[in-house]
Amino acid sequence: MGQRTDGSGSDAFTPRKEDRFTFGLWTVGNPGRDVFGSEVRPPLDPVVSVQRLAELGAYGVSFHDDDLIPPGSSPSERETILKRFRAVLDATGMTVPMTTTNLFSHPVFKGGAFTANDPDVRRLAVAKVMDSIDLGVELGATVHVLWGGREGVEAQGATDVRLALDRYAEAINLLCDYVRERGYDLRFALEPKPNEPRGIMLLPTVGHALAFIERLALPEMVGVNPEFAHETMSGLSFHQAVAQALWAGKLFHIDLNAQLPGRYDQDFRFGSEEVKEAFFLVKLLEDARWEGMRHFDAHAYRTEDPEGVWEFAKGCMRTYLMLADKARRWAADEEIQAALVAAGVPSLAEPTWEDTAQVLRAHVSAKRDQQGWLEEVATRGLGHERLDQLVVELLLGVR
Ligand code: GCO
Ligand code: MN
Ligand code: MN
Repeated sequence: MGQRTDGSGSDAFTPRKEDRFTFGLWTVGNPGRDVFGSEVRPPLDPVVSVQRLAELGAYGVSFHDDDLIPPGSSPSERETILKRFRAVLDATGMTVPMTTTNLFSHPVFKGGAFTANDPDVRRLAVAKVMDSIDLGVELGATVHVLWGGREGVEAQGATDVRLALDRYAEAINLLCDYVRERGYDLRFALEPKPNEPRGIMLLPTVGHALAFIERLALPEMVGVNPEFAHETMSGLSFHQAVAQALWAGKLFHIDLNAQLPGRYDQDFRFGSEEVKEAFFLVKLLEDARWEGMRHFDAHAYRTEDPEGVWEFAKGCMRTYLMLADKARRWAADEEIQAALVAAGVPSLAEPTWEDTAQVLRAHVSAKRDQQGWLEEVATRGLGHERLDQLVVELLLGVR
């Protein structure tokens, strides 16, 4: 994402296709229903969503099977919907890089989908994902997100967690075989979430998901789709979770939004809360030159009318670009660079030992017997107050 110059009516933070911003149809289409209140906005036609997002500079959209093809549609209705949808993608140049499956809305999944106690429900869930994969691949998707929204319990006694994990793995292994057999170019991304809508959910954090993936039959086909809101709900650092996923080669997709700790799943406009964490996330993705989509899984406040939704969408993308600009300033700011050196950050790139054989023999720690060294290091300040204040000043726009 490079610097851009002013064009007609646009500024340095106006999104462009090459920024690779994508939105779920369910995000801009969110009608504002919550647990205590009904819809405040009318349904949004997916075709209109694609048009409006394209005008705003987005790259593509994602969707659940049921967002595009309403459940119960006949084969001919499906064809009509697809034809219209393909036409708007062609007309706007928008893409569908990721799709996902709704395994949480229908009451049949109230006790779980891949991990329901009823084997017929488990089989239904896998068949629904297979249909959904076919649909996504037809439209060019190369990632399929699996969010286990109902994989969990309220009553702890109603499941056996170890067996539920067996069934979870069994379902994903079968889906990997399906993709291989069909010769699809598709990978899976598991989306962790700690709670909501179930009281206790399986694969609650990125860490749980990464550990689970290593026990699968084809771990190379499965990565994670971390969401800002979900790690924050657990009181964890989102950018740290994403960094570990990158480190493990498992960041296959991402859900960007905003969240305060200790709340319900807010899914707010990206950067609207926890802006420092959002900055370090953007910096991480940009420094890593991560090639995935900058995907927003967020929705407008319930206070908004249909026009407020497009303000929301614009805001998500602009804030990402503003934070990417701050990340570039970080690299160019001499005082920040000096503060990083003072804090010893560059030294973390040095391997700790050159000669491990010698360490194994003699527990060598070159300086531990050196006169005064221990005392000197133990009492030396690390300069983190100065460094962090520089971050705050950068973000508040005074440097
Ligand atoms: C949430 C989840 C969902 C999933 C989506 C993809 O906010 O609880 O993020 O929005 O991302 O259903 O499967
Ligand atoms: Mn969420
Ligand atoms: Mn999500």
